[in-house]
Amino acid sequence: MRLDKYLAHLQVGSRAEVKQLIKKKAVSVDGEVVRDPGFAVAEQSQVTVSGTVVAGNLAVTYLMNKPAGVITATEDPQARTVVDLIDAKDRRPGLFPVGRLDKDTTGLLLLTTDGALGHALLSPKRHVDKTYLATLNGALTADMVTQLEQGIVFKDFTSAPAQVTVVGERSAEITIHEGKFHQVKRMFHAVGIEVVSLKRLSMGALRLPEALPLGSYRALTEAEMTLLQE
Ligand code: URA
Repeated sequence: MRLDKYLAHLQVGSRAEVKQLIKKKAVSVDGEVVRDPGFAVAEQSQVTVSGTVVAGNLAVTYLMNKPAGVITATEDPQARTVVDLIDAKDRRPGLFPVGRLDKDTTGLLLLTTDGALGHALLSPKRHVDKTYLATLNGALTADMVTQLEQGIVFKDFTSAPAQVTVVGERSAEITIHEGKFHQVKRMFHAVGIEVVSLKRLSMGALRLPEALPLGSYRALTEAEMTLLQE
């Protein structure tokens, strides 16, 4: 990849700014000052700017604990998006959220530059299970649980049987197999109860780490990456 593009992708500066740095002889590749912005950087090259090593992957996958009040989109003229929560240094071209959580939903959200990974996780063929903790406006009855576990017929789709565990007087964990718009809220509504708040706990074998504060994110570990591929 061209040196100027490489530095811009790693958020060292805009394309114009990094060209200036190169012109000012501030950029070295493998110990040699490079003055050509079009210099081809090899994958294993070490690039420094003013003596500091510029490191970082161009391909990233982050796990976020999404807070309420931000929308799941890459950009929006008015609202704050999940990508706005990513530090400038960690942003990469093409970074996008995998699937969508409602503005008021919290919890596990992946953001990645890896289109194939995003596609695989969202593909209806893969049926990646998603588990949510739902706080409800009343108590879930045994009959409601049965209906949810049998699948709900909507106008646009029929939900596959969900797994439901009552975890409190007004809260339950629910595992669904699709990812339709407002699906969990619609399922509870269909059986006669409303969701007051919703938190995603897991996607496939990947769980939201308890220690990750709301609004924070971190790169996926190798082990977590493997879990996702299962
Ligand atoms: N189901 C919903 O209703 N909302 C979400 O954010 C995710 C699943």
